[in-house]
Amino acid sequence: MNFSFSNIGSLLAGGSGIGELMDDLGNALANAGPDLKMLGGGQPAQIPEINEIWRNRLAEISQDPAASTRLLSIYDPPQGNPAFVAAVAKLLNDSFGWDVGPENICLTSGGQTAFFYLFNLLAGEMPDGTKRKIVFPLVPEYIGYAAQGLEPEMFRSVRPTIEHTGRHEFKYHIDFEKLDIGTDTAALCVSRPTNPTGNVLSDSEISRLSGIAKENGIPLIIDNAYGAPFPGIIFTEATPVWDEHIILTLSLSKLGLPGTRTGIVVASPKIVRALSSMTAITGLSNPSIGQQITRPIMESGEILRISKEVIRPFYAEKSKIAQAAAREIFGERFPWHMHRSEGALFLWFWFPGLPIPSSVLYDRLKQREVLVIPGHHFFFGCGDEDWPHRNECIRVSFAMEETTVREGLQIIAEEVAKAFD
Ligand SMILES: Cc1ncc(COP(=O)(O)O)c(C=O)c1O
Repeated sequence: MNFSFSNIGSLLAGGSGIGELMDDLGNALANAGPDLKMLGGGQPAQIPEINEIWRNRLAEISQDPAASTRLLSIYDPPQGNPAFVAAVAKLLNDSFGWDVGPENICLTSGGQTAFFYLFNLLAGEMPDGTKRKIVFPLVPEYIGYAAQGLEPEMFRSVRPTIEHTGRHEFKYHIDFEKLDIGTDTAALCVSRPTNPTGNVLSDSEISRLSGIAKENGIPLIIDNAYGAPFPGIIFTEATPVWDEHIILTLSLSKLGLPGTRTGIVVASPKIVRALSSMTAITGLSNPSIGQQITRPIMESGEILRISKEVIRPFYAEKSKIAQAAAREIFGERFPWHMHRSEGALFLWFWFPGLPIPSSVLYDRLKQREVLVIPGHHFFFGCGDEDWPHRNECIRVSFAMEETTVREGLQIIAEEVAKAFD
């Protein structure tokens, strides 16, 4: 058959850097032997105590006809299940004193879908013919945003400043001098904690961004996939914020429920109505399972306890062990730094002066059955093709077993040392 795809169809169907990478990782995983060290994906860890909570709740639902019906047999309104939406609003009010009601909460099919909706709702060609962009005040930023624009060149991003915070340790900061908000800026967007670096933007950085967004009458989108109050994978002091001009996204994925595809957006009623409409058009309704599994612990506040007492310490410990292993294994064999680990599931390594691009390092590591993510994918929208830094970094997940992470770091050290020889 001889037919072509539309422009939008071509954009969505034509593949993406992240799509190819996920295929590559998936194929490597499928063909892997027992020695594969999967340090590449964003897969949360299997925490037995947490998995047991979900299993118990599923067993409870299966014994309760009304709950089973809510889980399996009804369409929720596009905004989300009303009881779940009310529970989230109450939890946020109780936790942070935010004045949010059900009209400020909206469900999406995972956080990823929320971003697809939000970016294309706010940016692109406007009714007056002008074009607007989503601005990322700091790259490296989450790879999953990179191919989500339905129009070309919908994103602009800003190269960060680098602070050396310790031996072999650094931290990115927003370069506010270079953060230029023109009339073409549709919204600002940051992840906090940041995927891939584990950076947590400071309260003062967030307050400054919020002020800039408010002054310019544009939204500030804060992606809280790893943040507070749940899943709470944040190892530093950081105050969660919300305001009428802030769009905060949460997700159940990093609580250990990525298969339920449950994203939660906290925003002004105008945004909530728009997202609900987009859900109705694209999917009628959202998956019920995550909402039904977590509703009782959302209502009781137990979700705060498990985030604080189980999930956060679990990942904080894993981060500490992985950092110690990197210091021991990398030693002084070659130039290296890791980003200060303040949250999320990853260590972000920078090898200054690396003689091969991180994409080649990725291939060499893959040959040796170690899967990481090469860093250049996270530097989208900044046009700094000649900035060596973007080819000198890799992202390594520490969510896997300690021995797997250790063995992976050992092989990374060997390959980086070989490249520097
Ligand atoms: C920063 C960030 N935002 C959003 C997402 C999307 O997650 P989900 O669609 O599973 O909620 C992820 C997933 O890894 C992420 O790392």
